[in-house]
Amino acid sequence: MCSRNIKISVVLFLVLIPIFAALPHNHNLSKRSNFFDLECKGIFNKTMFFRLDRICEDCYQLFRETSIHRLCKANCFVHETFGDCLKVLLIDDEEISQLQHYLKVINGSPYPFHKPIYH
Ligand SMILES: *[C@@H]1O[C@H](CO)[C@@H](O)[C@H](O)[C@H]1NC(C)=O
Ligand SMILES: *[C@@H]1O[C@H](CO)[C@@H](O)[C@H](O)[C@H]1NC(C)=O
Repeated sequence: MCSRNIKISVVLFLVLIPIFAALPHNHNLSKRSNFFDLECKGIFNKTMFFRLDRICEDCYQLFRETSIHRLCKANCFVHETFGDCLKVLLIDDEEISQLQHYLKVINGSPYPFHKPIYH
């Protein structure tokens, strides 16, 4: 009786190992920011999302400052740091208008950043 139970345990053990091994591991997929992590409430459009994300990545590359990286993407890119990044990256007016449209789609609300004023 007792040894039978052991046999059953051994069989279960041997069956379960491959099942656990086959389970997806907790791969670290969060290398890039993700739509849901940023709490974006609009519509996910990959092209638009990655363009916005790219602004923050480029900005980060320039300063190597993790707070910039974080703040740029804060509140789904609706943070003044994003606007600052557009300025330092010398994004032109035409592209800014396009990015404002992207933000409206991705974020779900119009973006309040101000266009840089050139005197
Ligand atoms: C994934 O990687 C990022 C950055 O390398 C790290 O901050 C995060 O904690 C990692 N997440 C998990 C679940 O390991
Ligand atoms: C995503 O946005 C791009 C750029 O505006 C557009 O060309 C494309 O059709 C959109 N894709 C979807 C699935 O809406």
